[in-house]
Amino acid sequence: MKEKTIFVCSECGYESPRWLGKCPQCGAWNSFREIKIDRKKRWTEEKEEVLSLDKIELTGGERIPTGIEEVDRVLGNGFLKGSIVLIGGDPGIGKSTLVLEIARNLAEKGYKILYVTGEESPEQIKQRAMRLKATNKNILIFPGQDLEEIKEIIEDASPSFLLVDSIQTVFSPELPQAPGSVSQVRECGLEFLRLTKKKKITTVLIGHVTKDGTLAGPRTLEHMMDVVLYLEGERKSGLRILRSSKNRFGSTEEIGIFEMSEEGLREVKDPSLHFVDLNHGEREGTAYTVLLEGKRPLVVEIQALVSPTPFNIPQRVTTGFDPRRLSMLLAVTEKFTGLMLRSMDIFLNVTGGIKIQDSSADLSVVMAMISSFRKKALPALSVFLGEVGLGGEIRPVSGLNKRIEEAKRLGFNNIYIPSASSPVKGDKRLKVYNNIREVIESCFG
Ligand code: TYD
Ligand code: MG
Repeated sequence: MKEKTIFVCSECGYESPRWLGKCPQCGAWNSFREIKIDRKKRWTEEKEEVLSLDKIELTGGERIPTGIEEVDRVLGNGFLKGSIVLIGGDPGIGKSTLVLEIARNLAEKGYKILYVTGEESPEQIKQRAMRLKATNKNILIFPGQDLEEIKEIIEDASPSFLLVDSIQTVFSPELPQAPGSVSQVRECGLEFLRLTKKKKITTVLIGHVTKDGTLAGPRTLEHMMDVVLYLEGERKSGLRILRSSKNRFGSTEEIGIFEMSEEGLREVKDPSLHFVDLNHGEREGTAYTVLLEGKRPLVVEIQALVSPTPFNIPQRVTTGFDPRRLSMLLAVTEKFTGLMLRSMDIFLNVTGGIKIQDSSADLSVVMAMISSFRKKALPALSVFLGEVGLGGEIRPVSGLNKRIEEAKRLGFNNIYIPSASSPVKGDKRLKVYNNIREVIESCFG
């Protein structure tokens, strides 16, 4: 038997020998597509040897730092030589910019880079390179999409780094599907993986993800990659966060923070300072909290606008905060304070384009809303740390001491913390509370 038919879920890449109505892995309906695999060809093209475990030599993990600290930290001291990395993110978020900046730094160190562009013309890349001061002779641009052609170029140029922008534009002429389809992306991804390991080059693939993350591309590639990074942020605000969702050679705890500027992505060394502007003075509806992003504490500003609704159904609009969590906090606040928030329009905004996934911000959200409702600013230089439970109680948060240190560093004098935690005694800046009612009384009397 030479040809085999399999069915692949176009949402998550799950393989099945027969057609299925519902994907057992991701639950998508009607997502299975038929794929023919030329088994013989795939397995005989390149013969690999069988090796006994005691004979396998460790080539050692040579790390190649890019010199961009925020990137190196997320990668774990730079790229591991011979690894394959996927950088995903929404279109327009700055992936090509980031990759070209990485290329620039590596080229300056003398590495030869092959930049395969299937989306933009060499002129467009040149324009970007001029802005980023990346016009280095060590960066070779190949405008191409055909996998076989790209392989030939790699063979001829033998680069140390291969950058593919983007994986969705590359296609194998041997498959009938269109570029960007699950089978194309997967097949090309596999081929780049094989090339990376065989030629000991270091490969970076760029992949687009749509808002809901369903696009056939990057998700289906994750399992083959050594490292998977996502570049996130609000396109409107300049802030970008590089997160790692998988790292075979390092931690996924670290994040990199950048700001998009005229000259590309600028590293943000002290993110807390970036998010808060303490010179604004006290404003009603504003509260501060400290998030833990990976291992880094980050002070952010929460803004709330609470006002009577002119409509029958009040509006609830949040940016950077889960609307369901807001509903829960509203219900709890109403129940335990008696404040009538239900007939109010509520707008909640986390400044700087940060998306809060940390329940430790609950207390600050409640306090921002109450401050706006009461039309009274919170005490100056206050920061609120604590999860709010359904009983109105303030619950402990992880990494409390780290958060407290960061708040102190930035000059906050009133640090509201849960009573269940046991921080250093005798520090007047720490205010310990059991429930939201106590905090509200303390702030507003
Ligand atoms: P780009 O890297 O092309 O995004 P992606 O590859 O993820 O689609 O860049 C996105 C935006 O960044 C683009 O709208 C222009 C802007 N930009 C700057 O603001 N400054 C710069 O120096 C560069 C190169 C781009
Ligand atoms: Mg791009």
